[in-house]
Amino acid sequence: MAPREQNLLDNRDERLSSFYHVVAKSVDIDDSPTPISLLGKDYVFLRREGKVIAFEDRCPHRGAPLSIGKFCDEYVECGYHGWKFGFDGGCIEIPALGKDASIPKAATLSGPFAVVERYGLVFIAIDEPKAEIIEIEEFDDPNFDVGYLETFDARQYAAFLADNFLDVAHFPFVHSSTFGDGEEKVVEDFEIVEEGTSFTATYEHSFSNREDPLVHTGEHELVQRRRLTYRFVPPFQLTLRIDFLATGGVNTIAFFVTPSAERSSRLYSLLIRNDLGGSKLAMGEAVAYEEKIIIEDLAVQEAYHAKGFPLSATGFVSTRADRVTSTFRRKLREALGEDISDE
Ligand code: FES
Ligand SMILES: [Fe+2]
Repeated sequence: MAPREQNLLDNRDERLSSFYHVVAKSVDIDDSPTPISLLGKDYVFLRREGKVIAFEDRCPHRGAPLSIGKFCDEYVECGYHGWKFGFDGGCIEIPALGKDASIPKAATLSGPFAVVERYGLVFIAIDEPKAEIIEIEEFDDPNFDVGYLETFDARQYAAFLADNFLDVAHFPFVHSSTFGDGEEKVVEDFEIVEEGTSFTATYEHSFSNREDPLVHTGEHELVQRRRLTYRFVPPFQLTLRIDFLATGGVNTIAFFVTPSAERSSRLYSLLIRNDLGGSKLAMGEAVAYEEKIIIEDLAVQEAYHAKGFPLSATGFVSTRADRVTSTFRRKLREALGEDISDE
């Protein structure tokens, strides 16, 4: 049998530089330098005059990390030989050459890069971004409360973690200790709408709402309708909105997977809900529950032996129950600029 064509995507693929990635929570970046890895490279982030700026964490002289340098109001001074750089990246002084020496053109920092703060998170695109930051309209709606999950580091390729977020067939198996026990094993057909390199997948079904207090008083039926809406923006920005049609409750979870290093990814997630009435305690419990679910997922994801995420259709055996994740894989290929005529 011919070997399967894999076309593996790893976390250091250069093409991923042309997309937004989350690198921190906004509250974690202040005026002191924070080194952060992205796509296997090292960057340094800091806040100046309220704005987040970023450079590659590498001095052009002998490659010392800038983050160990001295950051002043007007410039950063490398900790190795004292070269000084302005925050536009240009070198302004090389102490070993003496005052007024001419500065070589190549003595510039790599950066500053385009940084955007949104949803309480810091996004960066190293090259011109080929996709927008995902829209989460619930975030700005005053009827919704927002909770941030802890940040997880996972030993898995980012694309697998995104695929896992969009996968619905694993619930009864991986999540049997949390919500998966009563979940249907058979995956119904999702309605998928593609738009450019993004897509939305929707599915409405009946489920037993044991969390609804009005079920216990008899005002609501136990079996209720629920609509799931998954959204994807490349490369790894995802949301799941759950509409509880009997109660008007909406639970949205946003999931950003950052390809940090060779095989390590970072998960930033937030929970946006309109059914907690501003209760910090209830949000704390909801966040802790979501974290438990992520830990269940990571037990499977971190056990993989993969050498990268197979992008070609032949890399996995997919069935019609895998339509959403198959669409993800195909859209990701399109976003990365691959020819998909073999699909
Ligand atoms: S390595 Fe930065 S000044 Fe020499
Ligand atoms: Fe899961």
